[in-house]
Amino acid sequence: MSLPTQPSDNGTGPGRLSGRVALVTGGASGIGAACAGRLAEEGAVVVVADLDEIGANRVAEEIATAGGDALPRRIDVTDPDSVARVVSEAAGLDGGLRIAVNSAGINGPLAPLDRLAPDDFDAVMRVNLHGVFHAMRCELPAMADSGGVIVNIASIAAHSGFTGHAAYAAAKQGVLALTRTAAREYAGQGVRVLSVSPGLVDTPMAAALPPGAADGLLASVPLRRPARAAEVAALVAFLASDDAAYLTGSDHVIDGGYLAK
Ligand SMILES: NC(=O)c1ccc[n+]([C@@H]2O[C@H](COP(=O)([O-])OP(=O)(O)OC[C@H]3O[C@@H](n4cnc5c(N)ncnc54)[C@H](O)[C@@H]3O)[C@@H](O)[C@H]2O)c1
Repeated sequence: MSLPTQPSDNGTGPGRLSGRVALVTGGASGIGAACAGRLAEEGAVVVVADLDEIGANRVAEEIATAGGDALPRRIDVTDPDSVARVVSEAAGLDGGLRIAVNSAGINGPLAPLDRLAPDDFDAVMRVNLHGVFHAMRCELPAMADSGGVIVNIASIAAHSGFTGHAAYAAAKQGVLALTRTAAREYAGQGVRVLSVSPGLVDTPMAAALPPGAADGLLASVPLRRPARAAEVAALVAFLASDDAAYLTGSDHVIDGGYLAK
């Protein structure tokens, strides 16, 4: 049996995201940029949203050069008004908002919990947890009429803790809770809500970890390498497509076996 080669219009197979509007926060770099590229490759019109406006422009240009459709936008996920503006613009595009990938995130400073300054804890929470909340509270109602999919980028830190990064781990655990709750609340309105928990991924964020930290993590990864951002993006594209129509509320670990027991 051969696979269909023509783009499909039923949301599965090649071209499965054809014409769907997708919003990617943190789209200027790393996992977000890879997701923006992959979703565009599969036919979505992608709003590449990031605090880093220059980076968002660059990613949108790369997508256009590859034959895709993308719009760069500045967003600050810690600012509810900024998020509302960008989501409303995405929702106003032809077909309305159908896919959202909430990938914007920061690591925060490395410190054991008793030496973590309250301001540093708050700063990580504001981006990694409140930022996802601000995005979801605009994305969910925008999708509620025509249906849609939200994929939040969490982390294995939500499952295992993350030495020296208590705020990061707490925020990511919170992202899992927001995901499950919204999945329950919006399933009846045709919105699926999922999370992805990557292990170490080869991105600028991972490169900024203190010396030795990445090697320490990798020593416990059975596949003995970090993930490529494109590998995470492939999972996200699957979750965003109708191939994953029966998935909601679930977290999808992509960690080279790190959490395997
Ligand atoms: N790289 C990893 O090993 C890894 C592992 C697990 C989870 N994650 C998660 O994946 C997501 C993406 O991480 P990455 O590795 O691609 O990092 P990255 O640093 O390459 O990209 C993060 C992007 O988020 C943007 N951003 C930061 N604050 C923002 C704000 N307030 N508003 C809008 N955009 C903002 C940055 O400008 C940047 O473009 C994050 O949520 C991160 O926690 C990463």
